[in-house]
Amino acid sequence: MTDFNLDRFAVIADVHGNADALAAVLADVDGLGIGSIFNLGDHVSGPLAPAEALALTMGRAGMISVRGNHDRWVVAGGANMYPSDRIAREDLSQAQLEWLAALPATRRVGDVFLCHGTPRDDLEYWLETVTPEGHVVFRGLPEIARAAVGVDAGLALCAHTHLPRRVDLPDGRVILNPGSVGCPAYEDVEPYPHVVQTGTPLATYAVVERRGTAWATSVRQVPYDPARMAEAARAAGREGWARAVSTGWLRGAPGAPAAR
Ligand SMILES: [Fe+2]
Repeated sequence: MTDFNLDRFAVIADVHGNADALAAVLADVDGLGIGSIFNLGDHVSGPLAPAEALALTMGRAGMISVRGNHDRWVVAGGANMYPSDRIAREDLSQAQLEWLAALPATRRVGDVFLCHGTPRDDLEYWLETVTPEGHVVFRGLPEIARAAVGVDAGLALCAHTHLPRRVDLPDGRVILNPGSVGCPAYEDVEPYPHVVQTGTPLATYAVVERRGTAWATSVRQVPYDPARMAEAARAAGREGWARAVSTGWLRGAPGAPAAR
């Protein structure tokens, strides 16, 4: 960790077992000459290539990771697992499960704080909120700032919503969500049924550079061929996953149900 470059690094998250998207992002990071990566979790879950994707992550030097809610559920196992967590758990080796189990929920490295959802809850959306009608909207300053209480780092990294977004708090702290490497659209039922869809299948991540006391951030969206991942999803009977990785849409895409 001592050679982690805190002045210029990549931030990735929500790989969700998409090995081909992750490989494309890692190649893009290499092409930028960046050797240090923060990874905000949800490494696995889903029918794509969980063991293969996690092997890429575990074998990558210069990467510092936390765990996501799905990683937590995959490790926990049990009879009531979601199908996407079960298929990942069954694909992973014992060593991979142990690696996931050892990940912390949050982490502080220099002036950077890492979490998956918010500092206190890996299921909470930090920068967005869901309305009772199912719209995913910008959360607004009071609630975003409330969730940042106690975070004494200048830059806080979060994930979980798969939506890239940066927020600058009035006190100068920055909160950054890099978007999702491998899962550009999903559905959830909590706290209200909703759909998140980025509208692009590209593998998304962020690059951060320290500029004095400020942070320069950029979101990068990397093309790759999702065909192999879509085929894996179809082979598992998960047409929604296939549509998501192929198009970035769950609803409104060709062959998909109309948007609600
Ligand atoms: Fe998540």
